[in-house]
Amino acid sequence: MLWGIIGAMDDEIDLLRRKTIIKEEFVRYGCTFSSGTLEGKSVILVCCGIGKVNAAICADTLIQSFGVDRIVHVGVAGSLRPDLECLDVVVAVDAVYHDMEPGVLIDYFPHCDRFPCDPGLVSLASSVCSAITASQGRRTVTGHLVSGDQFINDRTTKERLHEQFQAACVEMEGAAVAHVAYVNQLPFLILRTISDSLRDGAILEYNHFKPLACEQSSRMVCALLDAS
Ligand code: ADE
Repeated sequence: MLWGIIGAMDDEIDLLRRKTIIKEEFVRYGCTFSSGTLEGKSVILVCCGIGKVNAAICADTLIQSFGVDRIVHVGVAGSLRPDLECLDVVVAVDAVYHDMEPGVLIDYFPHCDRFPCDPGLVSLASSVCSAITASQGRRTVTGHLVSGDQFINDRTTKERLHEQFQAACVEMEGAAVAHVAYVNQLPFLILRTISDSLRDGAILEYNHFKPLACEQSSRMVCALLDAS
């Protein structure tokens, strides 16, 4: 079983890379794909860069060139719910673009208006992450995730996204990874730690919490691999 693990930023993947016994490294499209063993499991790690297209390129490369069996997308996200605070964890049940014209997706995928994450991985991740966050006095929730090519800084837009999609969190890559995995019929999971809450001026919180949120996410991935 080969796990593809993908994050958008160096901070999101470097902590995992440091814990991995690296066997080989490959550079494709300017991204480094590191293969090795993490928590006793065979993995390929890649930092894809920010945004949906970068994420899609790397997800497809993980599948087509490296033959991964499943993909875990890991990183940080902005909260869209008043009860979700920084360093809480979201295990996505599905993902969709918030910046695509409504209805476009359904033209291509008549039975799918959001890309569903693998239910077995969601359930395992949810119990593993809940145990860790409970011991920290924080929360793990399962919920919808939305992605778009913008950093959402203001509360009004976050509230609109929550109303429109009933989503728990927003980020900039997950739905693209989900889309690629979906068309390849590959199981995938998205694990995100909240880096900015439902307040105005998200960027200030984000800058402060990003390193801690990346640590939290990498803790979750290690625990998930260990439990699987
Ligand atoms: N990633 C982390 N926080 C985010 C936000 N507020 N908007 C988009 N992507 C994010």
